[in-house]
Amino acid sequence: MPSDQSLPNIVILTGAGISAESGLKTFRDNDGLWENHRVEEVATPEAFEQNPSLVYRFYNARRAQLQQDDVNPNAAHEALAKLEKAFGSNLMLVTQNVDDLHERGGSQSVYHMHGKLLSARCAITQQTFDWSDSFDHTTKCPCCNRVTLRPDIVWFGEMPMYMEEIYDALSKADVFVAIGTSGNVYPAAGFVQIAKESGAHTIEANLEPGVTNALFDESLTGPASHIVPQWVDQLISKYAL
Ligand code: APR
Repeated sequence: MPSDQSLPNIVILTGAGISAESGLKTFRDNDGLWENHRVEEVATPEAFEQNPSLVYRFYNARRAQLQQDDVNPNAAHEALAKLEKAFGSNLMLVTQNVDDLHERGGSQSVYHMHGKLLSARCAITQQTFDWSDSFDHTTKCPCCNRVTLRPDIVWFGEMPMYMEEIYDALSKADVFVAIGTSGNVYPAAGFVQIAKESGAHTIEANLEPGVTNALFDESLTGPASHIVPQWVDQLISKYAL
């Protein structure tokens, strides 16, 4: 669908903070530990090579947790789905999150730049498969029938996904909003700078100012489930959508 010239182009980047009120822990709120692990123990290619059992176990636990009855999208995820309905292809939603809460909140198009928990990837062909159960070094890959499956997660030191599409959208953005992300991890933390250089109005929506806060034109401070629906409703009424 072509974009509507009368509406602004909006790029939204979300991080772990948007899912915090849904019961998923953020990465950097507990002495830098993620569910009791240092990221280097579980989120690097080296960790997977040295201790694959631990890495499989860790992501199997995260995948199971995501599917528990008490983990559900919150008002912020739902508001972004409402924004997508109003702005259509003028909106690009990029998430660093590997959960599926944006989709369950109603968003149709979500760029998971760091991969997805509910997916497995063949390490040989790079083919991906929807996957909701546990898997490990004994699980046969559906494409090559060998034991080549790895979590479909972008680890530290690996290239995030969809970078070409994201940089293209940032270069055309009129508005850039970062929601619930601390601004510690690149390249996502650099998106605000690129959007600014393209002339976009930049907004940080977070519980507290992130490390790149000075680069934003505007700050919305508070829990995502309050500030995101408010901002979305204001934008929708501004453009009478
Ligand atoms: N509403 C809004 N913001 C919140 C909330 C909330 N309810 N709760 C926490 N936050 C904020 C925190 O203040 C923090 O600034 O969300 C941010 C979460 O930051 P991180 O834990 O660093 O998560 P994120 O920025 O998504 O991490 C980026 O790092 O480990 C990697 O690949 C992983 O995608 C991840 C990346």
